[in-house]
Amino acid sequence: MSTADNERWWRNAVIYQIYPRSFADGDGDGIGDLTGIREHLPYLAGLGVDALWLSPWYPSPMADAGYDIADHRDIDPVFGTLAQAEELIGYAHRLGLRIIVDLVPNHCSDAHPWFQAALADPAAPERDLFWFRPGRGPDGAEQPTDWVSPFGGGTWTRTTDPDGSPGDWYLHLFAPQQPDFNWDHPRVRAEFADIIRFWLDRGVDGIRIDSAAMLAKDPTLPQVTDDGPHPFVDVDAVHDIYRDWRRIADSYPGDRALIGEIWLPDQQRFANYLRPDELHAAFNFDFLGCAWTAVALRACVDATLAAHAPVGAPATWVLSNHDVTRHVTRYGRADTTFSFATRREGVPTDLELGTRRARAAVLLSLALPGAAYLYQGEELGLWEVEDIPHALRQDPMFVRSGGADPGRDGCRVPLPWAGDAPPFGFSPDGATARPWLPQPADWKDRTVRAQTGDPHSMLELYRAALALRRTEPALGDGELAWLPAPDDVLAVRRAAGFTCLVNLSGGAVPLPEHTALLLASSPLDDDRLPPDTTVWLRTSD
Ligand code: NOJ
Repeated sequence: MSTADNERWWRNAVIYQIYPRSFADGDGDGIGDLTGIREHLPYLAGLGVDALWLSPWYPSPMADAGYDIADHRDIDPVFGTLAQAEELIGYAHRLGLRIIVDLVPNHCSDAHPWFQAALADPAAPERDLFWFRPGRGPDGAEQPTDWVSPFGGGTWTRTTDPDGSPGDWYLHLFAPQQPDFNWDHPRVRAEFADIIRFWLDRGVDGIRIDSAAMLAKDPTLPQVTDDGPHPFVDVDAVHDIYRDWRRIADSYPGDRALIGEIWLPDQQRFANYLRPDELHAAFNFDFLGCAWTAVALRACVDATLAAHAPVGAPATWVLSNHDVTRHVTRYGRADTTFSFATRREGVPTDLELGTRRARAAVLLSLALPGAAYLYQGEELGLWEVEDIPHALRQDPMFVRSGGADPGRDGCRVPLPWAGDAPPFGFSPDGATARPWLPQPADWKDRTVRAQTGDPHSMLELYRAALALRRTEPALGDGELAWLPAPDDVLAVRRAAGFTCLVNLSGGAVPLPEHTALLLASSPLDDDRLPPDTTVWLRTSD
């Protein structure tokens, strides 16, 4: 790929998330790997996406599926080798696909050499690279703060000193196997600047930053209160880190992008991360969690664009990822919103309705101004797998919540590629190991092979939409206007006579005047747009 072409590519790219454990298994051990990804790169180039974001591929004990990194400059042997990763980046570029790697700077693995050194000796200088603190109360037996982890439970674990006596506590906002770095320490900053250069030197086009709003902490470690500033989410000092990283990214040729994983309710605070000297883009989780109603979607689109405009950053549109309930399932429920706090098992779900809405939703999201993120398997219409036996579940969210939160395994089930029965071509023919999470037998209709060539399939809808997105000058970055429309219908006008109409009402509505029907998410009803359907139209204006 010529890195000079499509400057500022991150403003309107369609970015496909690969979750390496579950994409494709090349060596037959039931776990996805780089060989499997390499074999299927032509599929992704043919799908019509512009870039690939790969969830962590680094050496890791896998306490949080690789988001617990022991070595940031290598590849876990279960996935392959560094040489294979370098080769994969080159091959992707030759196919016209950009590569985004996942950087996890808030924490590392407890197997990381720095943390091991810190544990081995309370006087080790590595101790200061983390948050070690004495406990409260008699004998320091009480954790230093009552902070609650997004994974459930507390955020501190007590250590044992080398002489066997109880020692200090260390901070881990996520699982105990994920100790938080102390970003006030210059060695941490220098190390990550070097890691970023390591991957940019290998030609990656972008970096996705995990838990990007959580790196800086209030060093006085106060309790969380309802009204005061939060001690570990969106602490102002975090912005200095991103200013440093932006300078590094800008020093490389080829327009390298920094993309933040930022969950913040306040759109203004969110937009602060996207100021011109900070990150290039951030995931739009408001859109992901938005109810499937015209009023909510329009308000979300307006609020998103209003927040991004003053900082000149592109909006992003996200429907799913490896942390959330797949949207075919969410949209098939009475409550179509998403929140970690309310995620439960056994909610009645109409998958046919969810699939219909998912088809309509992707045409809406691809018609909005900005970049779009697709999560592997959504192009196949995969649903959340809810009946994974509890004994096989691996997500710490499930374990730490005592099963109250079903966790994220259900959206991480290995992809079905071909065939009538598991492993559906996920592993090579003759492999004896089973996929690391069981696939539903019903996925035989959802394989890539089964859907290819079927004009009614989800896969062919994605292929058609992505092909049009490349040729329609109106799509991608730019302006949006709302056209007058019947109640509960969204009419989005883009430049050059392109209109996207979404019917979220209970009845069919007439199509506005148009010169060509470019694409419809479901068949029309005698020239009228049925409920839960989106259409892309060429109009003469
Ligand atoms: C966000 C990642 O997307 C998620 O999968 C992970 O568990 C947490 N950060 C902790 O790294």
